[in-house]
Amino acid sequence: MRPTIEDTRTRLCALPKIDLHRHLEGSLRLQTLAEIAQEHEIDLPARAIKDLRPLVTVGGEEPDFHRFLEKFRVLRRFYPTREAVERITYEAVADAADDNVRYLELRFNPVALARAQGFPLEEVTRWVCRAVERAQRDHDIRANLIVQIGRDETVETAGELARVALAHRDAGVVGLDLAGDEERFPASPFKNVFRRARGEGLHVTVHAGEVGSPANVEEAIEDLQAERIGHGVRCLADPHVVELIRERNVTLEVCPTSNVQTGAVQDFWRHPLPDLLALGLRVSINTDDPSISDTTLTDEYWVAMSAMRITLEQIKRAIVTAAEASFQPREDRGRMAAWFRRELQSG
Ligand code: HPA
Ligand code: ZN
Repeated sequence: MRPTIEDTRTRLCALPKIDLHRHLEGSLRLQTLAEIAQEHEIDLPARAIKDLRPLVTVGGEEPDFHRFLEKFRVLRRFYPTREAVERITYEAVADAADDNVRYLELRFNPVALARAQGFPLEEVTRWVCRAVERAQRDHDIRANLIVQIGRDETVETAGELARVALAHRDAGVVGLDLAGDEERFPASPFKNVFRRARGEGLHVTVHAGEVGSPANVEEAIEDLQAERIGHGVRCLADPHVVELIRERNVTLEVCPTSNVQTGAVQDFWRHPLPDLLALGLRVSINTDDPSISDTTLTDEYWVAMSAMRITLEQIKRAIVTAAEASFQPREDRGRMAAWFRRELQSG
């Protein structure tokens, strides 16, 4: 008998998974947002969940990159206290564990968490690290952190964020990310900040080639020494950039639902994931922003299988690729990849 949709989804949910590209600020429970808004009397047009939903999730809106990024601006108002920051962080990790994500690299933007209240960047970073530590103790998951820098920040702020990230290496920070509007803000001003951070042992991933040109992917790899690229789906427009990705062993962090909602791709059926795999590129599958996009990693695997003709074997391969591309010491990476290979054989 052919498996039903429910059988396949149950099987995908049960797989031990890896998410390398998930934003803390895009992983907030609506219920928690409503409670924070209520408790702290946050000034919003409405505080009920049904009215909050359109402010902080994409829902059925027309695909648009700027509208998608705008949600993060609204969300900046929900971090009024240390308790709130620790709660949303703890819950983001717990929710990943509930979806059987066994290894998570959670990225967060300390400026977004800190700026409204004027918290020191060091301090919010410590709160996030502490909450991740606590969530790991309570759930079956390993999590590391990536400090995200906005493309619209100054080079000085980027330098400060890199210093904060380096100072929290013992507390679980493993890398730097560059995110935001790649059409308006080039990566090159951040070259020295990222190179220095790499030199001091942090890993680097950069959002590029999502809605912007393949040249942005080249800039991320050549100038910022990115080891992974957030999205990168536009790379196919330039064979030279595809070759560069292959040659440097760069892993793409593909996030299907986000790609449709931002307009990076036209629809799921035309998503380039099958082509990227056919070209032999290293590809991981991720959520980006589970709460903004109303998705889970299980959902992302499911949409890859149902709309893009990706096979279960290819999903498993993408999980092992994610293990191999994780920002961990080489031995841990190898051990983890071997563990996933073994577990997935029977899954
Ligand atoms: N692209 C660029 N910046 C972002 C994104 C994204 O998908 N998500 C959060 N910041
Ligand atoms: Zn992202």
